[in-house]
Amino acid sequence: MAGLFADREIVLGVTGSIAAYKACDLASRLIEAGARVTPVLTRHALEFVGAVSFEAITGRRAIVEMFEPLHSPEIEHIAVAQRAELFLIAPATANILAKAAHGIADDWLSTTLLATRAPVLFAPAMNANMYAHPATQTNIETLRARGCHFVEPEEGRLACGVTGPGRLAETRAILDAAAVLLCRKKDLATCRVLITSGPNHEPIDPVRFIGNRSSGKMGRALALEALRRGARVTVISGPATVALPDGAETVRVETALEMFEAVKARIKIADVFISAAAVADYRVEHPAIAKRKRGAEPLALRLVPNPDIAAHVGAAKRPDQVAVGFAAETEDLLDHARNKLRDKRLDLIVANAVGGAACAIGADRVDAHLLAASGAVRDLPGVSKEALAEALFDEIAALLAARGTTKKRPGEQQRRKGSKTAKGGR
Ligand code: CTP
Repeated sequence: MAGLFADREIVLGVTGSIAAYKACDLASRLIEAGARVTPVLTRHALEFVGAVSFEAITGRRAIVEMFEPLHSPEIEHIAVAQRAELFLIAPATANILAKAAHGIADDWLSTTLLATRAPVLFAPAMNANMYAHPATQTNIETLRARGCHFVEPEEGRLACGVTGPGRLAETRAILDAAAVLLCRKKDLATCRVLITSGPNHEPIDPVRFIGNRSSGKMGRALALEALRRGARVTVISGPATVALPDGAETVRVETALEMFEAVKARIKIADVFISAAAVADYRVEHPAIAKRKRGAEPLALRLVPNPDIAAHVGAAKRPDQVAVGFAAETEDLLDHARNKLRDKRLDLIVANAVGGAACAIGADRVDAHLLAASGAVRDLPGVSKEALAEALFDEIAALLAARGTTKKRPGEQQRRKGSKTAKGGR
């Protein structure tokens, strides 16, 4: 996440919910990712959290009262409203949603919400019945129709003892939604991006499998970057623990064969395919139906090869599609990566060292090299997976623009859906 919000001006509005304490963690994560955060607390929020906590975390004065002595010659609520690049209200109570929907300006936060032209993101948190109430739902619809954005609350047991939707969304989901709204590059706005991610589990019997160490972190970073740049994103994910961005359609699979089927079903409407999954090269030929019993003799499992998903896509892709792979190597990194780029007929490949201290699997930072089919190589030493995803999508966007894929009018993607392949057809 580091740098994702570098130097961006965010107003963090905190309202009177039991979830207000979670806004401290949110503020801290925003600061960690480089944002400049102005905390604004309602009087009711102060019943749950202290302004001092937010001041310590953000290094800025927490604004509460409307008519405090002027701290600068500017009219503060107008100046903050104009400077803000994002208004993030988390947690947002039924009360602030009602006030925002009806233009009521009776405290600092609601007044400033009227004065800003920045995108507004609400993360509601309240009792499930209050959330489901037609008044709240109508207010949410009104705000959505006006262009406000929402991170849906989660279902669960609420502080009031009721179970249902109303719990503040996870900090990660709020940060993802904020990152999408703040991205300046929207060069993939007409594109569909299909990503494979994570490991495969190949069953040995009903309780055992062959797997690998892939965390799914790279797939997550790629999905978030594609969403930030305006793409419609589908992730076909093996059993990874990392949470994918809420804005991406997620298809869960276990085995390489299931992943292959899921790719084949969606590849025609994709403009970009990224094979970030650590696909299992082999599967057990005959997994046992019942649990295998322990014995004294050695056990031999016969493994058969799985299909090469990236090679299948590379061989069948249309000229307007871009296909990208990853090469995980323990030795001769660039040579092996070049061979995979050529053999799988990809447009780009990311070469990563695996094994030893520089292992990319599961790490947050990697030594990567971007190799293009044109022969160009870009070295990216010690980059975060987020920065790698950004650099990769810069290359992909340039290829799409050169092929005219991103110049199509909005709506053309929809018309192309289901149409026959032009060349090299499937
Ligand atoms: N890949 C794939 N299907 C497979 C194997 C790999 O789609 N059955 C994709 C990976 O997602 C990656 C690229 O091909 O984008 C290279 O994967 P990698 O594991 O580095 O190489 P392999 O082709 O499996 O070759 P090897 O294991 O011999 O290095």
